[in-house]
Amino acid sequence: MKSRWYKNAVVYQIYPFSFMDSNNDGFGDIEGIISKLDYIRNLGATAIWFSPLYKSPDYDYGYDVSDYKAIDEKFGTMEDFDRLVRECHRRDLKVIMDMVINHTSTEHPWFKEAISSPDSPYRDYYIIRKGRIEGANVIPPSNWESTFTGSAWERIGDSDDFYLHLFCKEQADLNWENPDVRREIIDILNFWFEKGVDGFRFDVFNMFSKVYPIQDDTSKDSFQKGAPYYVDGPRMHEFLKELNEKSFSLYDSFTVGESFHPSEEAARDYVREENGELDAIFSFGHLDSDNIGGKKFFPKPFDLLQFKDGFFNPQRAAYGEGWNTLVLENHDNPRCVNRFSINAAKYRYEAATMLAAVTYMGFGTPFIYMGQEAGLVNCDFKKIDEMMDPVSHFVYDLMTGYGMPKWLAFRFIKYGARDHSRVPIAWDDSANGGFNDGHAPWQCVNPKYPEINIKKDIESEKSVYRFYRKLLRIRKTHEEAVMGEIQEYDHENRRVIAYSRTYQGKKLFICANFSKHTTIYNFPDELSKYKIVLNNYQVDGRPARLPFVGKKGQKLILKPYQAIVLSYQP
Ligand code: NOJ
Repeated sequence: MKSRWYKNAVVYQIYPFSFMDSNNDGFGDIEGIISKLDYIRNLGATAIWFSPLYKSPDYDYGYDVSDYKAIDEKFGTMEDFDRLVRECHRRDLKVIMDMVINHTSTEHPWFKEAISSPDSPYRDYYIIRKGRIEGANVIPPSNWESTFTGSAWERIGDSDDFYLHLFCKEQADLNWENPDVRREIIDILNFWFEKGVDGFRFDVFNMFSKVYPIQDDTSKDSFQKGAPYYVDGPRMHEFLKELNEKSFSLYDSFTVGESFHPSEEAARDYVREENGELDAIFSFGHLDSDNIGGKKFFPKPFDLLQFKDGFFNPQRAAYGEGWNTLVLENHDNPRCVNRFSINAAKYRYEAATMLAAVTYMGFGTPFIYMGQEAGLVNCDFKKIDEMMDPVSHFVYDLMTGYGMPKWLAFRFIKYGARDHSRVPIAWDDSANGGFNDGHAPWQCVNPKYPEINIKKDIESEKSVYRFYRKLLRIRKTHEEAVMGEIQEYDHENRRVIAYSRTYQGKKLFICANFSKHTTIYNFPDELSKYKIVLNNYQVDGRPARLPFVGKKGQKLILKPYQAIVLSYQP
């Protein structure tokens, strides 16, 4: 029986490469993670999602798995992992594993077998098709594009066959039509459940099912060529139900899917409790409010109305049907204080705390990405070679290949790069930001670490970390913060975001100035009924009293990026 513990959970995401390096070899590791569990618990988190720890050749830094039942040796051993699970559970921290099963590494034994002979039974574990003959050339079986640029097909040696890869060419897509593949996957999931893990985050889950027969995408408006044939495919619900029946439902689990531009209808169906598929999915629509057309390397001025749609729509859709997640950062996005047209040099604390209050008072389980809780900022990369993410290089090469000057291409990459959140965590101002004892890390440290680091944040008068603690505490002390129905106010307001959460007569009201201008907000309810429970503008360490103007004090003056949470208890 599922207790649905995730409804009250707060999840902290760790990208193991960069969290804490205990043996000073340049890579974060399990021992380093264990040394920081108390820190995570003190924040108020109740679960940890680990980005992949499995054996991997790291073409996509762990998201290309070559052995699903082994821990990569740079992170430690299976014994270390077992101890990690025990140490987490001892502190009431649930363990959520990343599960990357849309594709495997091309170094996985299944793939090696598959390409070793056209008669191999493993051939059908992947999506392998004959190329098309065009004059003297063999061209890919369809015009589908990889999410990481270029064709989604790679030729197998000098044969006429190609395999599908929706990401790097070292990540071959699995053939979910094959029942043996699904059986293997269920076996892998249950292997980890039996080890004591509490749930999974599924990588790009809504690409598991493809449309067959393979055909060209001739539509003009696809987000990515081929997407209509591999996003929310025809057997998605059936596959998820099978996993649920043979795995998730047998344990007191939490499953959350990372979706790639799902349709509204599919998104709702994936999480509808009675459907027995996933418990929740991530929606990233609000994170596209500062880029053009969902393409994160192309900035545009921040659009608060788009943020509101992307933030509220999934909450409204899931409320009463299933569950939702609340996200600001992850290993695929830059730091939140450096986006949404925010001047981080001037408003780092105010913006970091405002974004947190707005996001984590919403309906769904909060996900916090390591370092976000202390307002860590983007890295000031000086050249493309400092970036380790293959995607930064693919897109840079594409842009310069089209003739864009290198400096301009680098500027675009620097805006949206995943590298920003993947540099080693700045714990303090010692060498390498306290990530290790001085060995060169796998990825450069943020040169700002002497001024911006976790220790300094916690000790400073305006601490983002301490604000997060208070904020997360509200979810423990106010049921309505977890269970409350959401109502948005003043949607058209281009500076203020405001909503309430109501449950059994109790109400929380969240309002924030999402701009650098002092703004007057006409409060839509009787203000005197409410008590302030959180305010990111403090006086002597206590929430500042709110300045009111107008008749009956109904208008609030909100300073730049000010966020307040008000509570009404009948
Ligand atoms: C989504 C993951 O979050 C990302 O980091 C990875 O590169 C792709 N899926 C491919 O696995």
